[in-house]
Amino acid sequence: MMMMMTTTTTCKLYILLLAIFSLVTAYPDAPTILTVKQGVFCSPVERSWSHPEKSYIKLVPDAVASQKQIKGLIFHYYDIVNFTSVPILEVFAQLYPKEKKNLYGQMLKEDGSFNLDPAEGYNVDKSKIWSGSIDKEVKFEIPSTGIYCVYIAPPADTDEDEDQAQAQFKIPVVFKNSYGNLSYTYYLIYSLLKFSIPAGLVIFAGLFNYVLRFKIGKDFQNMDSLSVISKAVIFLVLCPLIAVSILQWFVFFLVNNFLETCQKSFIINFLSFVAQFASMSFHVFVAYMTLLFSMGFGVIYYYNGNSRNYRLFPQQSFRKISGFLFLNIVLLFVLLVMNSFIGSKNTNYLIGIGDSTVNNKNSFVGFITLLAGLFSLVWVILPMVFYFKTKKTIATFPPAPDAESTDKVVSAFRKSFLVIYVLPILTAILAGAIVGVLSAQYMLNMPQFPPNTERALVYASAQAMWIIENSLKSVMLPLFTTSLFYSFGFIIILFFIWIKDNNGLIVDRNANDPIEYANVPNFEISDGEDEENIRV
Ligand SMILES: *[C@@H]1O[C@H](CO)[C@@H](O)[C@H](O)[C@H]1NC(C)=O
Repeated sequence: MMMMMTTTTTCKLYILLLAIFSLVTAYPDAPTILTVKQGVFCSPVERSWSHPEKSYIKLVPDAVASQKQIKGLIFHYYDIVNFTSVPILEVFAQLYPKEKKNLYGQMLKEDGSFNLDPAEGYNVDKSKIWSGSIDKEVKFEIPSTGIYCVYIAPPADTDEDEDQAQAQFKIPVVFKNSYGNLSYTYYLIYSLLKFSIPAGLVIFAGLFNYVLRFKIGKDFQNMDSLSVISKAVIFLVLCPLIAVSILQWFVFFLVNNFLETCQKSFIINFLSFVAQFASMSFHVFVAYMTLLFSMGFGVIYYYNGNSRNYRLFPQQSFRKISGFLFLNIVLLFVLLVMNSFIGSKNTNYLIGIGDSTVNNKNSFVGFITLLAGLFSLVWVILPMVFYFKTKKTIATFPPAPDAESTDKVVSAFRKSFLVIYVLPILTAILAGAIVGVLSAQYMLNMPQFPPNTERALVYASAQAMWIIENSLKSVMLPLFTTSLFYSFGFIIILFFIWIKDNNGLIVDRNANDPIEYANVPNFEISDGEDEENIRV
């Protein structure tokens, strides 16, 4: 018994994760158009108290569909428990494509309309659902926020081959939230971007003004006097962060205002793909630079050019790490392409439930996702490993000829502990804590149903959807917020440690200093106790 319960819980969790994953990675989703092969769509719809008329579900049948007078049902999915005869999403999605007659057996009444008999102990409030013939445009204003499903029941006999041409009806479904077309999760991210982009611009203006005034001069003459780390943080982290955020915001803006859920637009899809790819690659690139930095890049090493005093970055490690970066980016590209491909199979609006979630393509995507997850783990752990090795190396091979700037660099690198250890760990704890508290809050309120009845499957399905409905808000937003916290924290900490005093290597392209190919035995210095001796 216990075993079985844990298995179902794990199963539900898996479905939940899949659902969240598909919601996270694919926007805009595949267009929501009901056909003879696709008989259901579910989507969260958000209602506002002040403008209840702005949130609705609209069915727009084409000529073939109108003429067929196809029966339809729209309901808040959690209310599935109120009905005796409406099949659960899992069953409906599985039987609809090929076994309509089988499916319709208990679902429809004599006249072909949905059987809405209330289950024992429940009632069915007709004002909260819509049921009828889709012979013209149907607009249903939703009574409350939640995940709604649209079921249709076209005549089963048109499955025959000769009727195939006639069977090609289309019923586009528009899920419209009070604020527009984006699903709520993305809407939250979109709203957050409206604040984080100006914040990023303000930080950029501040930083740039600071280095203009104190380091490079108004005429940009002394660009070379800016340390490698300062340049990297401003031009390779902050600028791309702002650019990527603006691109993401723009895609969300287009989708929210112009792309109804049943529409598709090559341009928006393409832009969305570019935005997602850019954003993911950017994060990997920052992780790559963090790793190089933890290995002493910009502190004692550089990769080419002339400098007053620096050593060449160990070339073999450099090539390996760059190769790893390249591999990671290729992986992300494959993942995104696969996802867009699967997206066109309509899994997203099915919220991870239905027969298409258990096929091979999904396990391949699952595998690639796992791989990408392992990559990101490596990006976090390696800097932690190399940080201490580099600290010893720096103590042994001072970065600058004069003692004062050497001391500054050594102290700055020591403080960088904040970026390499404290910030990622703090971010993880913060994300975990917020998600934990919010999830605990809603899990405590989770509706309970009588155990061991013949309706157990219906109850489980309603519960799973209830979890998805609630987890969207309590998981996605904290994850996105903490990733912003990380990015901004990263830049601000590095500002105080490295940019403010222009610490780290300064590489002067025009100077003719000899490159110091000092033969540093890379990261092979073992004990800390030796440090003092070597220095002396
Ligand atoms: C389902 O039943 C609950 C409890 O009886 C009720 O509050 C809710 O309005 C019902 N939903 C529908 C669609 O009738």
